[in-house]
Amino acid sequence: MTSRAQRPRKPAVPERVRAAVLGLGYVGLPVVLAAVEAGVEVVGFDVDASRIAVLEMCRSPVDTVTDESLGRALATGRLSFTSNPDDLAAATTYVICVPTPLLDKLPDLSMVTTAVGFVARSLSPGDLVSLESTTYPGTTEGLVADQIEQISSLVAGRDYHLVFSPERIDPGNPEFGLGNTPKIVGGVTKKCTAAGTTFYRRLVDRVVPVSSPREAETAKLLENTFRHVNIALANEMAVFCRELGIDLHEAIGAAATKPFGFMPFYPGPGVGGHCIPIDPAYFSWRVRQLGLSFRFVELATEINDRMPSYVASRTAEMLNAVRKPVNGASVVLVGVAYKRGIGDLRESPAFSLARRLMRSGAELSWHDPLVSEFVVDGIALPEVKSLGRDGLFGVDLAVLHTDHSCLDLDGLVRNAPLVLDTRGALSGRAPSVEGL
Ligand SMILES: NC(=O)c1ccc[n+]([C@@H]2O[C@H](COP(=O)([O-])OP(=O)(O)OC[C@H]3O[C@@H](n4cnc5c(N)ncnc54)[C@H](O)[C@@H]3O)[C@@H](O)[C@H]2O)c1
Repeated sequence: MTSRAQRPRKPAVPERVRAAVLGLGYVGLPVVLAAVEAGVEVVGFDVDASRIAVLEMCRSPVDTVTDESLGRALATGRLSFTSNPDDLAAATTYVICVPTPLLDKLPDLSMVTTAVGFVARSLSPGDLVSLESTTYPGTTEGLVADQIEQISSLVAGRDYHLVFSPERIDPGNPEFGLGNTPKIVGGVTKKCTAAGTTFYRRLVDRVVPVSSPREAETAKLLENTFRHVNIALANEMAVFCRELGIDLHEAIGAAATKPFGFMPFYPGPGVGGHCIPIDPAYFSWRVRQLGLSFRFVELATEINDRMPSYVASRTAEMLNAVRKPVNGASVVLVGVAYKRGIGDLRESPAFSLARRLMRSGAELSWHDPLVSEFVVDGIALPEVKSLGRDGLFGVDLAVLHTDHSCLDLDGLVRNAPLVLDTRGALSGRAPSVEGL
């Protein structure tokens, strides 16, 4: 049997870079579009055949990529989609953008290993493999390199190039996208880093090479842990400031006038999305392998996870002040996505808040123009279509959970008898509005 390491290189076609992007979600799709725009021939691969069918119909499955931009990319003739791993073989560059969730609070790399398996079966000497999925330090040089070697006999850094290049996309951010956010690249060897840098330079304005995949993996976890910890600081301060009668949002605004040494973070109903609640757990899991505990992360997780229950208790407090029990009260959650400007419900603290309010007997409904349905534990909650007088008729209290710019906040303040503003978006608007 011929070893894969002895297989001839695929013909070098410098001007016709062929890339395969595995995982076509919030991270993978923007990479696909940027690569096509840069002149790269791209095959977009996803295990979800229904997603491929939708993409082939020129419909974007994620709300941060428009159908128009997808249509423009398809019209170049340089883009195809597939769910057949055999179609990956023509690629010379492989970019892995599959989810890295937690399973029972532990890192679940099963989707990475499946994707790496597909890559390993298509890989040839000289190819480039880039892992973008967020993971703990050591994954690229350990798990990924080992699995590829086992399947293909190709050795990272000797036979092919292997890098980690964390995706730093901030869905819904109108200012920073893939192109103008510097891209970190850490290769197993200097040559690997150089190959990764050459590829990504076509896609983004600035590439930041680092010494190894471990620094790149750690940089991504540091960024999200930094946010996680600072949001927890703001959340804990919100609870104390309420007791002390201090307007924390005003204090944060004042502190942010300092031109150095301070960066504002704001309290809210909890943390959500695919990054903040999950990524720090990847780092603390790795630290636990050393027999140590990452106390900052554990404390921040505890504080942030407590916020939905705090919001539920504030809801009860506000209703109590007008002699209404939560049991039987009509409460509407306004904005249920995990963050402003997008319709992504993944890990949204709205689920935990909804569960608590339902358990206390509240009659719960929701309103979010960016979300099509809100199902909690199998129950599709009724949608309030507008924040106008009719929409909010009979509602006792509205919780502003996510302050999308498309929300009718004037209508909310005018038509809801009580508003609990978890985002500080309605400060001083009316006596019926209270903050956290
Ligand atoms: N969403 C973000 O804001 C964000 C930002 C930075 C980093 N990340 C990281 O990027 C990675 C991907 O996240 P996402 O938000 O794009 O996920 P996503 O759920 O939006 O998309 C992932 C896609 O991968 C597909 N998939 C799953 N297993 C696969 C496999 N073995 N082969 C091919 N396709 C597979 C799924 O069907 C899905 O379409 C995660 O590690 C995440 O932590 C996400």
